[in-house]
Parts: sequence; structure tokens; C-alpha cells
Amino acid sequence: MRDKPTAERGGGYVKSFGCQMNVYDSARIGGLLETAGFDQRDGVEDADIVVLNTCHIREKAAEKVYSELGQLRVLKAERAAQGRKLVVGVAGCVAQAEGDEILKRAPVVDFVLGPQAYHRIDEALARARAGERPFYGEFETSEKFRDLRERPMRIAPRQISAFVTVQEGCDKFCSFCVVPYTRGAEISRAAPDIVAEVERLASDGVREATLIGQNVNAYRWSGDGRTWTLADLFSRLAAVPGIARLRYTTSHPLDMDEALIAAHRDLSAVMPYLHLPVQSGSDAVLRAMNRRHTSDDYRRLIDRIRAARPDTALSSDFIVGFPGETGQDFQDTLRLVRDVGFASSFSFKYSRRPGTPGAERADQIEEQAKKERLAELQALLESQRVAFNAACVGRTLDVLFEKPGRHAGQFVGRTPYLQSVQVDGSASLIGTVRRVRIARPGSNSLFGELVDMDERVAS
Ligand code: SAH
Ligand code: SF4
Ligand code: F3S
Repeated sequence: MRDKPTAERGGGYVKSFGCQMNVYDSARIGGLLETAGFDQRDGVEDADIVVLNTCHIREKAAEKVYSELGQLRVLKAERAAQGRKLVVGVAGCVAQAEGDEILKRAPVVDFVLGPQAYHRIDEALARARAGERPFYGEFETSEKFRDLRERPMRIAPRQISAFVTVQEGCDKFCSFCVVPYTRGAEISRAAPDIVAEVERLASDGVREATLIGQNVNAYRWSGDGRTWTLADLFSRLAAVPGIARLRYTTSHPLDMDEALIAAHRDLSAVMPYLHLPVQSGSDAVLRAMNRRHTSDDYRRLIDRIRAARPDTALSSDFIVGFPGETGQDFQDTLRLVRDVGFASSFSFKYSRRPGTPGAERADQIEEQAKKERLAELQALLESQRVAFNAACVGRTLDVLFEKPGRHAGQFVGRTPYLQSVQVDGSASLIGTVRRVRIARPGSNSLFGELVDMDERVAS
């Protein structure tokens, strides 16, 4: 579809409900809508098309879609009374899992696009305008990647840090999780396309690339006669001029291979901060979850990573109340948390997801027990986060500055550990990596002072 002349342009709003992949896809959908003549808006008010990019991971996330659609129904009716149209699309993982049901339950919806079909949004729009209500739900990730090559992502002006999709889908089938069903099998994007995207981002001023995928460290691509792993990608991307920092998320412990651990040691651009979900510290629960490793395997893996890069800080995901989880199992999780020590974490009550093996089990845990365990785990994780931040006070850390702060003269950047830091300075800080002495912790960010005025030379 060609760009429309300015006078005819409408407004498009994409709302993201999910993980980093979902956020990346939302930016992608926003860019495609722009090409189709809809400038990006920050809300539904002045949008002519609204796309909800949904998440199916937990029950609450999925429910949000229907409450949001209820509000859009009212807005669409108001618009119709004024003789103005509102087109409503549902994309993402709920779309994939429940597309037909959405169309049945919510007449306000004009089209449904699964996570592998965003590149077909022009077609979906055209069909919706013709009065159809199409549902695109096939798995065709390779086509999605090809489209990304032919019509590259648009970059937000002055963006310093960017996500780059390198891999999609999951073959792990953890017994609690919907992702293998909503996103399909693991597939990796061509290495030259990823390099080209990062080079383009870097030439537009991006200094940090976060490589994303449902199982990003399962990345494997052999389209050019050799096999590229995530470690190979890092070696190549660390050499892209302008790129100072590389990160990746989300990883599975089983795919943390020797070469990737060595990349943490050998490449200073790879940040010493790793999100490595463990879910539980109980071997019985890990087995029931089909995680295929024990809690000691995880401890040993962390030891190896810390041996390679001693300043590595960790973050993780936890689930409490998986079916059959006993009080002792939960104590084992607390013990693992104490043993490892996490700088930051995400923790959730187990949510029964239709179609997953965990949902079929008869030994579901009572809501009250889940609540209590979550509160106890979160208190421990929060104390570790606070202690980690407190231990940074007095240290000098490299900070990549991204944007102005809330107050005049303040600028915000991130440490290697993703903590946000507020510093007094000037706009010339943005996009540079500076040495900052951490002065004090705040509730959500740290406060620091510039150590010197020389820019750190990015390695
Ligand atoms: N691929 C990643 C993360 C996928 S989803 C991994 O392997 O860890 C992000 C997190 O949501 C998971 O790590 C898990 O902690 C949580 N999650 C997934 N399914 C869940 C469920 N049914 N109930 C509660 N939390 C869940
Ligand atoms: Fe879900 Fe497990 Fe795959 Fe992660 S590894 S996306 S938790 S099935
Ligand atoms: Fe949610 Fe789909 Fe991501 S279920 S967590 S948006 S992969």
C-alpha cells in the first residue's frame, strides 16, 4: 500500500499487553499502519484504527482484552452516531488462541491477526473495509521475517536503546505455558538480516541492542554454510560501529552453552546482567513443569557464568502454586533465591491455561495458598533488589544516557544492570556512556553524579 497524501491521513493506535516480543510487534504494526496512511497516536481518542496486541500468558492478561473491547464498543457506537468510523483489530497471542471466539463474542472487532500474520495487516484492513471480518491465524513466521527484510522497521527518532527480534517461538513445552501454542515452533531469523537491522539502528543513533526471542539463546541459523549461534551473533554485532551495549532476553537455562558464557567473559559490549528464568527451586516441581533441569543444575550454571564474568547480576521469573507444589517445594524455591541472590525478578501465581498439561491436573493449589506464597517470595525478592541497589551506592558504574529526566537539568540513563539513574547534566549526555558515581538509591531509580566529563570510548 502506498503512503496517502497528508490531507487524507488518519490516526492509528496500537496498544501492547504483553512481553518484549509483543512490544516489538506493536512497533512493527504501528509502522505498517503508518505506511497504510495512519499516523501513530498515543490513545484511542483521535484514532481511526485501534489494534489491541494481546497476551495470553495468564488468565488476567487474557481477560483484559474483553474489558478493553467493551470500552471500544461504546466508542465505536459514539463515532457511528457522528458519522465517523472506528476500525478495531485484535492481534497477538489471545488472537491466535481464541480468534474465532473473539469474533463471536465481540461484534466490535473488525479483524483478527495472529502473531505471525502482522505483515498481512493491509489485506486485513481492506477486507474489513469491505465488510468481512477476517482471522489470520496460520503459522508462517518465515514469511513474517521475510517481510521484515523487505519493509524494514521504522525507528523512533532519538531512540538510544532498541529491541531486535532474532528468534521466535518455543519448542520447550513447559507444562504451564501457552507460548508454544500461540507462537509456534522455534525459528531463527537470518543472521545477515539481523546484522543489517542493527547497523541501520546504529547509524540512526541507537547505542544498545537487546536481542529478543521467546527462547533467544536457542538461536541457530545456518543459511550461509556455517551455523550461527547467539554467541556468534554477539561477536559480529559487538563490531558494529556505534553499538556500545548488547543484551538478550529471554533465555532458557538449558540453552546456556559454553560459547555464550564465554561471550559474557570476552565481549565487554555484552552486559553483565542476565535474565534467566528458573520458575521454581524444587526438583519435583521443575520436573512436573517439564523444565528438564534440576535446581542444582541451575546453581552450577550460575556459578559458571559468575566464574566467567564475576560482576554478573541476575534476574529471574518464578511461578508459585504450580499444581502439586507442597509447602516444602515452596521452601526449596526460597532457598534457591537465597543461594543465588537476584538483582531483580518477576514472580507470578500459577494461572491455569486451557490446553496446557498443567491445567488438566487434579491437584491444583488453593488461591489462598498461592497468595500467601507469592507475598512471601516477593518480600524476599524485593529485599534482594533493595540490597543490590544499596550495594551500588559509592560504586562508579557506566551509564548509557537515554532521555531527559522529570526535572529540568536531569538526565536518565541505565547502568549495566538496567537500573535507571538520574544525573544532573546537559542534553549532550544523551546517547553517551559516562562513568557515574552512585550517590543514593531512590524507590525506583538511583541518583548519581558524573565522575568526569570524558565520554567512555565504547568497546
Ligand atoms: N520463554 C521464557 C518466558 C515466557 S513467559 C522462559 O522460558 O522463561 C514469561 C513468564 O511468565 C515465564 O517465565 C513464567 O514465569 C510466567 N508464566 C508463564 N506461564 C504462566 C502461567 N500459566 N502462570 C503463571 N505464570 C506463567
Ligand atoms: Fe513457555 Fe517454557 Fe517456552 Fe518459556 S521455555 S516460552 S516458559 S514453554
Ligand atoms: Fe504473552 Fe504471547 Fe508474549 S502470550 S508473554 S504476548 S509470547
